[in-house]
Amino acid sequence: MSATTAAEQVPRHAGASPLLAVHDVTLRFGGLTSLDHVDLTVERGAILAVIGPNGAGKTSLFNCLTGVYTPQEGTIELTTDGATTQLVTGSARRRRSRKPHVVNRIGVARTFQNIRLFAALSAFDNVKIAAETRGRTGPIGAMLRLPNARANDASSDALTEELLDFVALRPMADEVASSLSYGVQRRLEIARALATLPRLLLLDEPAAGTNPTEKLELERLIRRINAERGVTVLLIEHDMRLVMSVADEVTVLNFGKVIARGRPAEVQRDPAVVQAYLGTANDE
Ligand SMILES: Nc1ncnc2c1ncn2[C@@H]1O[C@H](COP(=O)(O)OP(=O)(O)OP(=O)(O)O)[C@@H](O)[C@H]1O
Ligand SMILES: [Mg+2]
Repeated sequence: MSATTAAEQVPRHAGASPLLAVHDVTLRFGGLTSLDHVDLTVERGAILAVIGPNGAGKTSLFNCLTGVYTPQEGTIELTTDGATTQLVTGSARRRRSRKPHVVNRIGVARTFQNIRLFAALSAFDNVKIAAETRGRTGPIGAMLRLPNARANDASSDALTEELLDFVALRPMADEVASSLSYGVQRRLEIARALATLPRLLLLDEPAAGTNPTEKLELERLIRRINAERGVTVLLIEHDMRLVMSVADEVTVLNFGKVIARGRPAEVQRDPAVVQAYLGTANDE
């Protein structure tokens, strides 16, 4: 039997499941359909972009993935280490989402369209707070300074320093978050998300409000997060140059529906995509 034939006979197992599988997800707010039967598959190791005009449903999708919103229909599954977790469960009548902190613990971290840092805390403390969520010591252990609390504290410090280095923010470690420039705050938010050691990182418009130099740094950073830290990336972004340069695949949303998906260059030429963006430009 040839090697090829043997490989073809290997049955599908859990390891063959994609990291994230969004199937037929519909989210409504009263009469408004924010996500309309959305399907999305994210393979391990990929950098995938979600684009679309304002109000297309991109942030709503992230909110469904992270347990902020519960879609009325559809399923969302995350498969890590061969184990699949249903992020949306229950019947058609009564549906529940995993809570945001649970989704984070099983490997999904995010940044926000409108930066959400602890404005009065230092860059270091913003990252360390996230790093500490990995430890198992509860608040009482931390208060009593139990031995494993001290060990966790030291490892959180080490991870925080490593991540501030990774995003080139070590020199600004002691600066208060609100005093940092917008582009630097965006990098800090990414470091904070990475501190929870995610498998999947969701970035909601990380380039918004950044200057051209910061955009180039961000492009390199997203590639390094993927290549050096082995993190799969799902990126919402309006900056087409950034999307075209970093994404392996692009999914396009318009009025809550997936209207195209494929390689960046293919999607950019797709008449439905051109029409969706022109429609927006004409309306504005
Ligand atoms: N909590 C909410 N209550 C009511 N409507 C909402 C809510 N969240 C989102 N929507 C609506 O859902 C639609 C999609 O919004 P969403 O924020 O997901 O768009 P988006 O693609 O992220 O847009 P943008 O590019 O402007 O960030 C919009 O019409 C929005 O007004
Ligand atoms: Mg948005």
